[in-house]
Amino acid sequence: MTSNGRRSRGWYGKLDRDGFIHRSWMKNQGFPDHAFDGRPIIGICNTWSEFTPCNAGLRVLAKAVKRGVWEAGGFPVEFPTTSLGETQMKPTAMLFRNLLAMDVEECIRAYGMDGVVLLGGCDKTTPGQIMGAASVDLPTIVVSAGPMLNGKWRGRDIGSGTHVWKFSEDVRAGQMTIQEFMSAEAGNSRSVGTCMTMGTASTMASLVEVMGLSLPTNAALPAVDARRTTLAHLTGRRIVRLVEDDVRLSRILTRESFENAILANAAIGGSSNAVVHLLAIAGRLGVELTLDDFELGADIPLLVNCMPSGQYLMEDFCYAGGIPAVLAELGNRLRFATTVLQSDIRDYCADAECYNRDVIAAFEDPVKDAAGIRVLRGSLAPDGAIIKPSAASPELLEHTGPAVVFENIEDLRERIDDENLEVTRNSVLVLKGCGPRGYPGMPEVGNMPIPKRLAGQGIRDMVRISDARMSGTAFGTVVLHVAPEAQIGGPLALVRTGDQIMLSASRGKLELLVDSRELARRRESWRPEAQRYSRGYARLYTDHVLQAHQGADLDFLVGKDTRPVTRESH
Ligand code: FES
Repeated sequence: MTSNGRRSRGWYGKLDRDGFIHRSWMKNQGFPDHAFDGRPIIGICNTWSEFTPCNAGLRVLAKAVKRGVWEAGGFPVEFPTTSLGETQMKPTAMLFRNLLAMDVEECIRAYGMDGVVLLGGCDKTTPGQIMGAASVDLPTIVVSAGPMLNGKWRGRDIGSGTHVWKFSEDVRAGQMTIQEFMSAEAGNSRSVGTCMTMGTASTMASLVEVMGLSLPTNAALPAVDARRTTLAHLTGRRIVRLVEDDVRLSRILTRESFENAILANAAIGGSSNAVVHLLAIAGRLGVELTLDDFELGADIPLLVNCMPSGQYLMEDFCYAGGIPAVLAELGNRLRFATTVLQSDIRDYCADAECYNRDVIAAFEDPVKDAAGIRVLRGSLAPDGAIIKPSAASPELLEHTGPAVVFENIEDLRERIDDENLEVTRNSVLVLKGCGPRGYPGMPEVGNMPIPKRLAGQGIRDMVRISDARMSGTAFGTVVLHVAPEAQIGGPLALVRTGDQIMLSASRGKLELLVDSRELARRRESWRPEAQRYSRGYARLYTDHVLQAHQGADLDFLVGKDTRPVTRESH
């Protein structure tokens, strides 16, 4: 593309009143004339926020990206968007993923940029940014915030998220004091950066690298490692090249790259949340991807021994070789797919080596067999549900037991620790009302706490089923994303305490063992809940959110619009 044909010329290339306005107001920041000479203008989309501690290092990275852009002959312009602090937002950051995506999409479209570098990290920031960018489809690269340093407490490594769940269960079981619990807080988070377990943030950063949307090694370099700053600098140089060669996002995120992501998600023991995020991103690009495609990874073994599926943390993963070493193990199973280096993904692992086999296992000698997300279907989940076997108790993956039903999250909180709750270790805990529309926002509450009485007996896992999600740092035999959700009358809405439920992960089955005539009777008396929200984003969201198996995007945001900006295109 010639410099005159660049998108940014529509803002800064005109010698008329509009051109004056666009250039002049930018010059109030001290930019010289030559910044507007037709060179590629690169937007740096920054989700930095002190309310998103995971992304608190992004200002440093933004500076480094700018260095690289200037060096390569481009003009970098940083802009902020909504930031989603997973641990800080109520009711749940997932409610706002699509809002971030909308914000990113509209900013990229409305401003005069030719390419964009996405700076994200915390769970929803990465998929939200990519969804938005995909709907505009300019040349795009991601630089992730990077994981925190390993957590340390009383001489041992502790993992963000994973140990919070363990410690809180220990407190409930009387095996840890509240003073010990609180003293672990500071050791848990020793630097800026994302959760340093293989939670959703590390998973999405890993999959971004596997899909070739970042430079190699982006996923695992610690947030405070100088090499991450170097990577940001090099990314600035690379995005200028992608603009010059007009390599758009849709050239990178193809069906093949999504398949590679599914394979890799199994190998890294990635978060179950990757399912809704990948489905939503694919929906923006028009890539045919369904829940059933996640079965592609079902037979891939667990290679990365990181919490919550294993024992190590992201810093260890980085030093062991990171994603390039995992790609090398996947070898010919990988599909051919173009990357931001404008070559095949195999080039990311051409020189890769594994430096610690305890952390990254060989494909022939894995940490666990068949670790990929399993898709479940049956009378309880006609549109599907998922389970993450690598984080589950093997003996519970085939289980039939009586349901103990909680109608919503408030009901769960009120009764789960009731000493009189009729529950045994064979019971199946069922939680309703936590799907995309029901909560709303599909919160990470699927890993319900073990009833206090059973926790006190040392029981740490039970089969749990809901239309909710689960934190990528959590573990347990937890069936998630049941669709259709209870709120819109899915079969989950009809389950009653005492019903038998059958889970078979090996056969992909989730059955409600109740006579169909009885279910028909129950359906007759079921009534949908009235719309709870009269205004604002929650109203928009609940009116338009799709179900989990469709990525939980808003229905009117699916697809893209790459037309030049005019009054009609809006
Ligand atoms: Fe932000 Fe985990 S809370 S990455």
